[in-house]
Amino acid sequence: MIKFIILLLLNIFLFMGETLIIKTRDLFPDFVGFVSDINLKEILSDSLINELDAAVNKYAVLVFKDQNITDHEQVRFTEYFGKIEASGKTSNITKDKDRRLSSDLADVSNLDKDNKPFTLNDPRRIFNLGNRLWHTDSSFKPVPAKYSLLSGRNVSKEGGNTEFADMRSAYDNLDFKIKNKIEKMICEHSLIYSRQRLGFDMVRELSPDEIKNFKPVEQPLVRNNKLTNRKTVFLSSHIGKIKDWTRPDSMCFIDDLIEYATKEKFLYVHKWLQNDLVIWDNRQTMHRARAFDDLTEYRDMRRTTVLGEEKLI
Ligand code: OGA
Ligand code: MN
Repeated sequence: MIKFIILLLLNIFLFMGETLIIKTRDLFPDFVGFVSDINLKEILSDSLINELDAAVNKYAVLVFKDQNITDHEQVRFTEYFGKIEASGKTSNITKDKDRRLSSDLADVSNLDKDNKPFTLNDPRRIFNLGNRLWHTDSSFKPVPAKYSLLSGRNVSKEGGNTEFADMRSAYDNLDFKIKNKIEKMICEHSLIYSRQRLGFDMVRELSPDEIKNFKPVEQPLVRNNKLTNRKTVFLSSHIGKIKDWTRPDSMCFIDDLIEYATKEKFLYVHKWLQNDLVIWDNRQTMHRARAFDDLTEYRDMRRTTVLGEEKLI
């Protein structure tokens, strides 16, 4: 009997001991957590998943090193946090028959179906350059994405960092006059707008039927995280218009805000090593990819996306 009680207590102790080890940077105690002692190839317990979920809300970005996972394992890990947002004709211009990866994964690489880098003028390459602009994933969808999980299967030798900006800190540091001004603002988001910034005119490149998939959607500019009760500015280069404003006025205002919200004091720069996996919360951050020699290097990055839970308007 005593033996049984000791074993039971030991089990309870071990179970309680299964907590995450998360390190942070000294100057940014609540932005970006580095998670160690976890193997994403394994099935995770509910308590660990809940802890991870709380950590994404708290730190907005989580970094995991040395996760040599398969697509299947990445999808399984992603589904712990919600439903997968499928990648397809409303999020890119690649035809289904030309996909390199299953529709559970967004192909963020510079590679075609035969694993060869896209050539200079390939519209898919030009379209992908949109990831170099500050954005949040799928803010152009009626229900925008919750989390994104990016796995570095083959990383570029030079360049190709991913930068993240903390939209909670950006909101907190705004002047109160601007806070009041933006409180009720509504913005129109579309992939057409972000690609227009690159000089890539999707209306001309796509058929009238295809372009229907990219109609602008309205989103509030200020959001509130229910779990942490922190407000964020929901910015993205997909924004092309503020409701009831002219387009040029909208662009000037949004560009000023993006410039402010991506100052160094709000940033984390991720320098990829093979098999890093990074989760970010699209409700609380913006991100962008940095340049690399995409005509010769092979940067194989695979993203899974957790569907958002609600329409915001
Ligand atoms: C993404 C993205 C940036 C990168 O996966 O959504 O924007 O560095 N990626 O590849
Ligand atoms: Mn992205």
